[in-house]
Amino acid sequence: PNLPDLTLLLQGKKVLISAGPTREALDPVRYITNRSSGKMGYALAKAAVEAGAQVTLVSGPVALAPVSQVEVIFVESAEQMYAEVINRAERYDIYIGAAAIADYTPVNTQATKIKKHTEALVINLKKTRDVLAGVAQLAKRPFTVGFAAETHDLEQYAQDKLYKKNLDMIAANWVGKDQGGFDSEQNELHVFWRTGQKIIAMADKNQIAKQLIQLIVERMNEKNTT
Ligand code: CTP
Ligand code: CA
Repeated sequence: PNLPDLTLLLQGKKVLISAGPTREALDPVRYITNRSSGKMGYALAKAAVEAGAQVTLVSGPVALAPVSQVEVIFVESAEQMYAEVINRAERYDIYIGAAAIADYTPVNTQATKIKKHTEALVINLKKTRDVLAGVAQLAKRPFTVGFAAETHDLEQYAQDKLYKKNLDMIAANWVGKDQGGFDSEQNELHVFWRTGQKIIAMADKNQIAKQLIQLIVERMNEKNTT
């Protein structure tokens, strides 16, 4: 693709990005997580710095090198992710929810290691709070961009999330075997907003990130002048 020159595009702007998976503790030694590597969120942080923004990354546990010039706040659980993002979001111009936040968390976290006794074990889970929808409900909301990871009916689900969570934009990607996205170097994004859509073709996540940042700035400028 023709890679955009991002210089100065976000000069003077503050960008908040969530990245990586979360860990929901079952006991002191075990947790529930997912296959997110954090690469997309970190690539977006890098691209936003390149565009001149002041960038904060709220990151789940990842095995990635820190991005220079980015303030990083490490969290583990969905609940911590919610608190760190919501408490900051109103001071930012843009929020990009690239984290794979757990939808369910154990009802009880055992204080001591769960011992194996019975043949079967049932773990009760409860829904977590939606960080992205929470940001979009804030009085002084930033330009709010979500991600959607889908294995089927991508456009339908992405459009649903755009409207239900009241987002400015959503970037959907196929996940699962051989699809890019989760735990992959590459990604392809199907981006939707209220009045249009665009496909950012399969490429390295750093290249995809630059194109998404450029698209966000375009849409944000459009929104502010209409
Ligand atoms: N998200 C969030 N808080 C949660 C769960 C998801 O902020 N507790 C955000 C993700 O960061 C992403 C968007 O919601 O930007 C979509 O995540 P996704 O898992 O695709 O959708 P869900 O709304 O969780 O619905 P489902 O998993 O059923 O597809
Ligand atoms: Ca989910």
